[in-house]
Amino acid sequence: MPKLTTKSIVGVGTGSTTNFFIDELAGIRHMFDAAVSSSQASTKRLTDHGIQVIDLNTAPQVDVYVDGADEVNHARELIKGAGAALTREKIVAAVADEFICIVDETKLVDTLGKFPLPVEVIPMARSLVGRGIVALGGQPIWRQDTVTDNGNWILDVFEFMIDDAKATEFNINQLTGVVCNGLFAARCADTVLIATNEGVRTL
Ligand code: A5P
Repeated sequence: MPKLTTKSIVGVGTGSTTNFFIDELAGIRHMFDAAVSSSQASTKRLTDHGIQVIDLNTAPQVDVYVDGADEVNHARELIKGAGAALTREKIVAAVADEFICIVDETKLVDTLGKFPLPVEVIPMARSLVGRGIVALGGQPIWRQDTVTDNGNWILDVFEFMIDDAKATEFNINQLTGVVCNGLFAARCADTVLIATNEGVRTL
């Protein structure tokens, strides 16, 4: 964790693990200036704690971004997006000076892809993107109960073992109608903190 100052801006992810981080952040809110948030849910939890949340466009910098993940490999590449917040998460991660991922040891894998890869799509392009994903070797399933904070839909891609995460991230992004995919490889985590029964392991 970088040294926080009263000018620091903290980027905050989304999900059950990040919720623990938000609750801890509340206790040190005098040590930084404000937060930028990756979802409406995290914004609510932050503001309920009295933490100021600012628009990313007005943030002079983001010192550190802290978020969970659905899968992590040994190269600190991630699958994210089970909570459908992947696009805003990727934006905040892209801006942050440092990206710290917090997970428990069940999330660590040798090869990404057992967890279905979320892809956010423009609604009218759902079938077009689905066909493109099939051509890339995946099996997309529409997450029908979900609309993202950006008003888009999610396809979860099954049976898609990912040997080259950077190439797969790039290839999916080339499909017309894709907003974002849940591979965080081009901008991977700088540090992964893994909770184990023996304590916290750092990757
Ligand atoms: C939210 O869209 C996701 O990227 C979460 O960060 C990820 O699913 C991890 O969530 P949990 O901490 O709830 O497992």
